Amino acid sequence: MVDFKPSKDCLKDKTILITGTGSGIGRAAAKTLSQFGAQLILLSKDTGRLESLYEEIVEQGFKEPLIHPMDFESAEEEEYLKVKEAIQDKFDKLDGLINNAGVLGEKKLLGQYQYSIWKKVLNVNLDSAFLLTKTLLPLLNHSKLSSVLFTSSGVGKKGRAYWGAYAISKFATEGMMEVFADELENTTKIRVNCINPGAVRTKMREEAYPAEDPETNPLPKEIMNLYVYLMCDVSEEINGQSINAQ
Ligand SMILES: NC(=O)c1ccc[n+]([C@@H]2O[C@H](COP(=O)([O-])OP(=O)(O)OC[C@H]3O[C@@H](n4cnc5c(N)ncnc54)[C@H](OP(=O)(O)O)[C@@H]3O)[C@@H](O)[C@H]2O)c1
Repeated sequence: MVDFKPSKDCLKDKTILITGTGSGIGRAAAKTLSQFGAQLILLSKDTGRLESLYEEIVEQGFKEPLIHPMDFESAEEEEYLKVKEAIQDKFDKLDGLINNAGVLGEKKLLGQYQYSIWKKVLNVNLDSAFLLTKTLLPLLNHSKLSSVLFTSSGVGKKGRAYWGAYAISKFATEGMMEVFADELENTTKIRVNCINPGAVRTKMREEAYPAEDPETNPLPKEIMNLYVYLMCDVSEEINGQSINAQ
């Protein structure tokens, strides 16, 4: 974990999009980044959870977020273009993109893995991050310094039995981060990195490890320091890295 003490308003000039903010790590990231002054755009599947997060943020007196319900399992490329247009209409630049949404899929041997679940996991965990990043590059380029994050996992670095499409989507995410980072390094001010959250007390963790005592893992809000650090300009030299939040 980085040793970083953010100032109270270190994100006050930043417009940041976060995916998968209905619950878990994405929701905690939205609450934390808004506390530090960020203008947020929140994309998630569940409209009710998005609206309740919007209310929490507004009630606390932080900047009113833009919310956009979107199902990455079925979204076509045109829907990503609409997201870009909506951001462009209001803000004309984007300073941060946190690709966080994810699903676990099924814990089965690859030989028994259902293709329908494979496609869902790849759409939500990988394709959405590719399409969103690709589509929003022009807006990220309008920022003086912008930061893109992808979300990885321990099983995206060392394959493990029964982790199926989830592990494979995370390996591909690591590779996509490296390709984007290398392509953008000398021509833009966009930096691109991966965060591996480690074991965190969320719905997904419980689904993956039903027999585990959830209390043994930190809450999402306890790993937020790295997210704030990577969204702040102090991390401008960090590019092409895969960083553990714990
Ligand atoms: N928790 C851990 O221990 C751990 C470890 C390593 C990596 N990670 C990674 O961290 C990220 C966040 O996971 P989490 O633990 O916070 O899980 P979580 O609580 O289950 O949250 C997953 C989020 O993804 C969103 N999502 C799922 N399907 C979607 C879809 N079809 N379209 C749009 N959004 C969708 C959900 O949105 P709605 O709420 O709107 O449905 C939810 O907000 C994931 O990428 C995960 O792989 C987690």
